[in-house]
Amino acid sequence: AATGGTGQDLAGRHVVVSAGGTREYLDPVRFLGNRSSGLQGFALARAAAARGAEVTLVAANSTLPDPAGVTVVRVETIAELRDVVVPAAASADAVVMAAAPADFRPATYSESKMKKAVDGSAPAIELVQNPDVLHELSTSRGRADTVVVGFAAETGDDTGTVLELGRAKLARKGCDLLVVNDVSGGAVFGSPDNEAVILGSDGAATEVPRGSKATLAHAIWDEVVRRLQDG
Ligand code: CTP
Ligand code: CA
Repeated sequence: AATGGTGQDLAGRHVVVSAGGTREYLDPVRFLGNRSSGLQGFALARAAAARGAEVTLVAANSTLPDPAGVTVVRVETIAELRDVVVPAAASADAVVMAAAPADFRPATYSESKMKKAVDGSAPAIELVQNPDVLHELSTSRGRADTVVVGFAAETGDDTGTVLELGRAKLARKGCDLLVVNDVSGGAVFGSPDNEAVILGSDGAATEVPRGSKATLAHAIWDEVVRRLQDG
């Protein structure tokens, strides 16, 4: 994989990356989840390790194997993900939330497997909103100089274009960089390719043309390294 000629510019740095999609359980065997494969997060972890970083990869339900030279922590739910990512990020140089946490979880968890009613009726499932890990990482930083990076897949709608929605999300989350994917042309889930615009809280917008997830990963680390040097 290309390293952009960047060499070991993350040597001595500790970075935390989350990847995959969380599962929110209804009972011991059933969950709400999403189709995130973890490919982009694993590519970020691999790229950071290649550039010399000490990498902690928090992987939610990904079937991908552990990348060499990376500390991998496997989690399932957003609660588990948060419990690993927040303390790890507190002392990290950078944290990238490439995971797709479920936005909602069932309001109640049944310790025993839910059974069908004999009268043919089905239960209504009440949902509650999950905690926003990226917002928490951005607003209660253990170190003021940690570079906090989020992702957003947007289609644009009647309230704004993909970039306008990205700008608004960057401000709402309070992160330093937001990697915005335009998914209006179809899903990127499981695809080897990605294209994106990397928005900065400083007003920067870096376009990354369609290419491999490794290429996008290196473009993201380029932006992170620039901010680590400035900071
Ligand atoms: N994120 C998070 N915790 C959540 C939801 C999202 O940390 N509970 C992170 C994602 O990992 C991603 C970023 O926030 O880096 C943006 O995710 P996105 O789903 O686009 O944001 P939401 O705030 O959930 O907004 P939306 O209503 O558009 O889904
Ligand atoms: Ca969401």
